[in-house]
Amino acid sequence: MSDRAYNFSAGPGALPEPVIKQAQKDLWDFQGSGMGVCELSHRGPEFDQILAEALADCREVGSIPDSHHILFLQGGATTQADMVPMNFLHEGLTADYLETGKWAEDAIKEAGYYAKLNGGTVHIAGSTKAENYKRLPKENECSYTKDAAYLLYVSNNTIFGLQYNRVPQTKSPIVCDMSSDMFSRPIDWSHFDMVYAGAQKNLGPSGQALIVIKDEFMQKAPKDRVGRMHDYRIHADKESRFNTPNTFAIYLMGQTFKWIRREFGSLDQVDQYNKEKAAILYDAIENSSFFEAHVTNAEDRSLMNITFKTPTEELDAEFLKEAAKHQLLTLAGHRQIGGMRASVYNAFPIEGCRKLAEFMKSFESQHRTQVAGASA
Ligand SMILES: Cc1ncc(COP(=O)(O)O)c(C=O)c1O
Repeated sequence: MSDRAYNFSAGPGALPEPVIKQAQKDLWDFQGSGMGVCELSHRGPEFDQILAEALADCREVGSIPDSHHILFLQGGATTQADMVPMNFLHEGLTADYLETGKWAEDAIKEAGYYAKLNGGTVHIAGSTKAENYKRLPKENECSYTKDAAYLLYVSNNTIFGLQYNRVPQTKSPIVCDMSSDMFSRPIDWSHFDMVYAGAQKNLGPSGQALIVIKDEFMQKAPKDRVGRMHDYRIHADKESRFNTPNTFAIYLMGQTFKWIRREFGSLDQVDQYNKEKAAILYDAIENSSFFEAHVTNAEDRSLMNITFKTPTEELDAEFLKEAAKHQLLTLAGHRQIGGMRASVYNAFPIEGCRKLAEFMKSFESQHRTQVAGASA
């Protein structure tokens, strides 16, 4: 770590330092071309190379099989939550959704719009909304539709700090929003017909999404029912260059894939590192009678977003203020749940987790007497 703060932002989140440093150089002059990376034509030879490498490195790092296309599209994850039902939820069809947090709720709203427009049905196959998303629905609490057009679920609930450690047991095609845990662990592609992820947590800058879509699934969308900009087939055919793509975002994602390969070698290693980081923080919470985790079910706890609070809102505010003095930044929880949220995506260094854990300990010893009923 350099002179930079520990940035626990949930997204846009911390990028790998070597990627930022390389980008600084390439912004001025990309590989001796005399042009900066943002100034390159999206159809010129330099960008041809950037795109080809980003696609190849993404496939290699993610072990993505040839059955699946890789697309780099603009509009973030929210555009994907819209495009999925726009393409795949039509008359007479049902789409299953698992309601596990705000992003799932938003995706359900988008689907509702197309269901109404096209005559399809949205079925909530499982939900823990009534429990304020303190856990994920268990398999035996879910009711999947037979022959649904797809099941959509969010693998990591960024706001509440819940993460799936299993794949839902439906027999229908699965579409997964992996925005906040993409490439943080290995993916068994045999389960997924489509995965999408906003880039701003583990992959690059905001406004950009990575989409991995199985050809067989992509071809199920009726032809000529959506405009060309919203047709996955067009983007696959044009290798994400149907219109002018966000060239800088693709470049940054490409650099991030290279960094993952260089730094970790495999997603198994990334997973190992993320487990070590999260364990430091969950141990700090568990070994304290002052901090409390939001997620009650330990097996549903996210390795990416660790949500917790002190005994009072006043102490939460004090915690955030004091933490900032120690260069521990952007720790405020989302307004839906308050408290604190430490987002520790791939690029977030383990030293930052150790520093936060130490800070939690010292904050607790200084403030525990302020809690009603506490013995000094
Ligand atoms: C899991 C998840 N899905 C979707 C989104 C929305 O992403 P975007 O802002 O790129 O549309 C977010 C944003 O934080 C997210 O965490």
